[in-house]
Amino acid sequence: MGELYVGLMSGTSVDCIDAVLVDFSGETSSGADIVATLGHPIPPILRDAVLALCAPGPSELDRAGQLDCQLGQLFADATLALLENTGIEPAVVTAIGSHGQTVRHRPPGSVAYPFTMQLGDPNTIATRTGITTVADFRRRDMALGGQGAPLMPAFHKAAFSADRDRAVVNIGGMANITELCADGTVRGYDTGPGNALLDYWIGLHRSEPFDRDGAWAASGRVSPELLNRLMADPYFNAPPPKSTGREAFNPTWLERAGEGLELAPADVQATLAEVTAASIADAVHAFANGGELLICGGGARNGDLMRRLRRRLPTWSIASTGNYGIDADWLEAVGFAWLARQTMRGLPGNCPGVTGADRETILGGIYPA
Ligand SMILES: Nc1ncnc2c1ncn2[C@@H]1O[C@H](COP(=O)(O)OP(=O)(O)O)[C@@H](O)[C@H]1O
Ligand SMILES: [Mg+2]
Repeated sequence: MGELYVGLMSGTSVDCIDAVLVDFSGETSSGADIVATLGHPIPPILRDAVLALCAPGPSELDRAGQLDCQLGQLFADATLALLENTGIEPAVVTAIGSHGQTVRHRPPGSVAYPFTMQLGDPNTIATRTGITTVADFRRRDMALGGQGAPLMPAFHKAAFSADRDRAVVNIGGMANITELCADGTVRGYDTGPGNALLDYWIGLHRSEPFDRDGAWAASGRVSPELLNRLMADPYFNAPPPKSTGREAFNPTWLERAGEGLELAPADVQATLAEVTAASIADAVHAFANGGELLICGGGARNGDLMRRLRRRLPTWSIASTGNYGIDADWLEAVGFAWLARQTMRGLPGNCPGVTGADRETILGGIYPA
């Protein structure tokens, strides 16, 4: 049969895609026998789009490219510092699972060609650390029609599934739920905003990076009108699969909902906390009438948010994932180490029942050390 490879190339002229089928098992002097060739046309509209994007000048594209490499350096620094603290040599680490920094998430339904973009060049990470790096976890799931998110459910299942219903809620910038059914079924989705808007609002009014323990939110009163307007966002009632990010839940979203309302900043903070709690609680209710709710992510440290959740979920036993064996602050990073391990072992990492992908798949790209 030979040793067949396909080569694809589209050069600076953007004239067409050169496609070749090559046999490397041949006896010719070059060792590369061309079996077939194809000049595949590039539609003019795509060619124009490519050339427009190539136009030099200060652009979002340049900033993204620079940031990709800068963040790659920073992720490498983080790894090296982590290992230095332990005295463990990079050579004994099997792989790094690096999620990268999401700067855009356009899931199916939001644009014609859904995509997600995480920066933090894995080539840089692998080179600087000398450790094989697995990255770009989300896009294979998206290529299969999935949301590419949330990706934690497979790990939550591996770590926390039991013979009774459990929900795992991660409260990061956004929040997501994993539903672990006693029969082994896994469901899940992003519930909506987590801490991102709380961080934004306290940054704007008090120049603090976050609302420690939710103390400021606790000092305010929820505005029923603003709460209703925010909770009226169709995302909350949309059926899964669904995922979201700053593209949807951002300062503009808050400003629009608040138009015409005169509210004290602390009351807005209380209302934002209530939105996070209400959207999570609605998701938990929709799963089951009661059970065990495991919380992780920075939001688990927000006492006010936890009180709001407990008030809305009296039939649920709510505790940090720390009580179940994995520290709530580190759970997601552990999850990406686990996803890297899945990939290195040739095992799937997505849950099609969560993301809506056509099937299970191995996630990510491997960048050898
Ligand atoms: N002590 C605390 N009190 C209240 N909120 C906290 C506390 N510690 C962390 N947070 C919140 O958690 C966020 C970080 O959570 P994290 O799970 O790392 O999110 P992400 O996964 O989006 O990075 C902070 O921005 C902050 O809003
Ligand atoms: Mg974080």
